[in-house]
Amino acid sequence: MGASGRHYAYSSIFSYRPGKDCVPARRESDLEQSKKDRTQTAVRDRYAAIARASQGGATESCCAPTEDNEADNSASSRQRTPQRAREKSRVMGYSEAQLDLLPEGVDMGLGCGNPMAIADLRPRETVVDLGSGGGIDCFLAAEQVGPEGHVIGVDMTPDMLSKARANADKMGKPNVEFRLGEIEHLPIADGTVDVIISNCVINLSPNKEQVFRDAFRVLKRGGRIRVSDVVATRLIPKKFSEDEGMICGCMGGAATVEKLRSWFDEIGFVDARIDVKEQSRAVIKEWMPGSGIEEYVASAEILARKPE
Ligand SMILES: C[S@@+](CC[C@H](N)C(=O)[O-])C[C@H]1O[C@@H](n2cnc3c(N)ncnc32)[C@H](O)[C@@H]1O
Repeated sequence: MGASGRHYAYSSIFSYRPGKDCVPARRESDLEQSKKDRTQTAVRDRYAAIARASQGGATESCCAPTEDNEADNSASSRQRTPQRAREKSRVMGYSEAQLDLLPEGVDMGLGCGNPMAIADLRPRETVVDLGSGGGIDCFLAAEQVGPEGHVIGVDMTPDMLSKARANADKMGKPNVEFRLGEIEHLPIADGTVDVIISNCVINLSPNKEQVFRDAFRVLKRGGRIRVSDVVATRLIPKKFSEDEGMICGCMGGAATVEKLRSWFDEIGFVDARIDVKEQSRAVIKEWMPGSGIEEYVASAEILARKPE
């Protein structure tokens, strides 16, 4: 290092002005990052617990509060059975015929829509499911893309991955695989995917813009994104957006429709559409009864395309 370099290092240490120079700003971004890390850990812990509980036949709404939450007193949230999961999935838009394809326990009732209804999958396509959970949408996608197609489920929770792989053994679907990974940094090569699907997951990410950037990276030219997720139709008050139970329950972290549109534009997606399902508010109301969260969030179908 030359003399000027040494001078710079010396002056930057000794002329530091608290509250004005760059060090506090860096600390602030470190704090922001550790907050995001804590959120991700809480989400992983929550879904690991759900996956482990499901080994004994229990199921749980993605969005129901945790067992120890005082709000979790409704009879409906206590009845966590495969039958209840099926009932929820029917309400979320799955047909009886789709649910009949799934052995007991594969449908965990964790979705907030049915991405298959908008994915328009074709034989031989490669599909990636962001946050695949127990694998429900991967198995339904595999039916549609056929034996020459390929479906990859990505999930960051090892217990959920074990559950999905056990389900794959039950289903006997050689064209489905599950990879451990974060949807912000997909374990998938650039430009190799025809369709990205996801069901009630992106709202859980503390870095949603990065999720869409990485989806764009892995999509082929002309590839499409077809997602069901919870979105905010008004700014969510802090009492909800900073509440861990609300975030892990797929409500507190939802992005606004405007924010989603601006990310799609900035990243370069085209033909973006966000269709809010107003009727979903009645279902969301049951996820945290009495809180009023359903006035701020709703389930939506989210569609966009990477240009040719
Ligand atoms: C609400 S569940 C939905 C599961 C599945 N899509 C379904 O409909 O049944 C959310 C899933 O996303 C996973 N997940 C959440 N955030 C993630 C992230 N940042 N990266 C990868 N997986 C994530 C969780 O581990 C969990 O399995």
